[in-house]
Amino acid sequence: MTASTVDRARPYMAALAEELSAAGTIRSRRWDDAFSSVPRHLFVPRWYEQETDERGIAVWRERRAADDLAAAYRDTTLVTALDPATVEQVDDTAWTGIPTSSSTLPSLMAGMLEDLAVEDRYRVLEIGTGTGYNSALLSYRLGEHLVYSVDVDPALVETARQRLAEAGYVPRLAVGDGSHGHPAECTFDRIIATCSVPAIPEAWLGQSRPGTVVLTDVDLGIEGGLVRLTVDSKWRALGHFTTTGGRFMAARTDATTYAAPQWPERAPIAATRPTTVTAADIRANYPFRLLLAFHLPGAQLVYHVDDAGAMALQLQRPDGSWARAPLSADGPATVTYGGAPGLWREVEAAWRWWNDTGRPAQDRFGYSREADGSAYVWHVPDGTRWDLPSA
Ligand SMILES: C[S@@+](CC[C@H](N)C(=O)[O-])C[C@H]1O[C@@H](n2cnc3c(N)ncnc32)[C@H](O)[C@@H]1O
Repeated sequence: MTASTVDRARPYMAALAEELSAAGTIRSRRWDDAFSSVPRHLFVPRWYEQETDERGIAVWRERRAADDLAAAYRDTTLVTALDPATVEQVDDTAWTGIPTSSSTLPSLMAGMLEDLAVEDRYRVLEIGTGTGYNSALLSYRLGEHLVYSVDVDPALVETARQRLAEAGYVPRLAVGDGSHGHPAECTFDRIIATCSVPAIPEAWLGQSRPGTVVLTDVDLGIEGGLVRLTVDSKWRALGHFTTTGGRFMAARTDATTYAAPQWPERAPIAATRPTTVTAADIRANYPFRLLLAFHLPGAQLVYHVDDAGAMALQLQRPDGSWARAPLSADGPATVTYGGAPGLWREVEAAWRWWNDTGRPAQDRFGYSREADGSAYVWHVPDGTRWDLPSA
């Protein structure tokens, strides 16, 4: 890309910043300036867009900023890498596969950068360099010497390094598993992760000072969400789920591949019975799914398709027990389950509690990571508490 493509992109950069400001996700002049000044297409010259092919299969179609510059400045996530262990080429420009990197939805990036509340001279660590676009925004705002970023995929880091240099920034990039922090021996005023972690890693606290803010997506199984935590003098990280909603791809230990999930054999069907909670209730209410994750640690929520093609939302536990509710809403609500019958009773109890408590949103829940690695969440107004499994 040449200087003239940056000039051509300026109206799109300005329009994106204006759109994010109008939507309230950019809330300050400093981040408005950053989004108006850092060219996203330099970091995302090509990406994959999901489409459904003529056989009804969802594929990733390659797109190029050189063909459609405006598309690089839409408020959409742009997938930039696919897991080579799952990838299959469908035609000249389309593949199937699991995404392993992307340029995050700009409105989510803006919301998180605002929530991070950086100040001049703050040193920031980003986990998940990806394309380098977020590092570039941070470098614009703070100065490249205060921006550190780590990604587990060496190829992504190398490409990001080149593109950042092309855009005029040389932040400190490193290759590695970001749950071990950054190899630089320093502490950070802010830590922002753009991949999800199951719990706050010890190393992040090791690179914090009292007052450091950690902003990350915690993945609690059934659901997860963004938490904004402040490290205190006892090395606890304490805070709450943010009103900025968003989920990220999981942190992995391999550079390019996700380990396939292992589930034990499912228990045989036990019974079908009427229920008070439908699949639609679970699908439509994000804070309720988060509450379910507090109630049912280790459980997963997946889609299930039976032999006749009927779809259901299925909860499953590592002990092989499961319970599923049909997606179609015909007739009275039912649940079908196998293994221990208590799983869906927990769902019904959580649904009752959530409704009786006035359907609290996610930011009504606190999150604490204690110095010994244990963690818990609580309902802020009344202190009802759920302990989370240790990392
Ligand atoms: C949503 S992308 C990051 C987007 C990036 N901030 C940007 O502006 O383009 C998530 C990134 O997390 C990286 N990642 C996954 N597991 C990781 C780990 N354990 N440590 C560091 N990075 C990891 C992925 O390789 C991927 O590039």
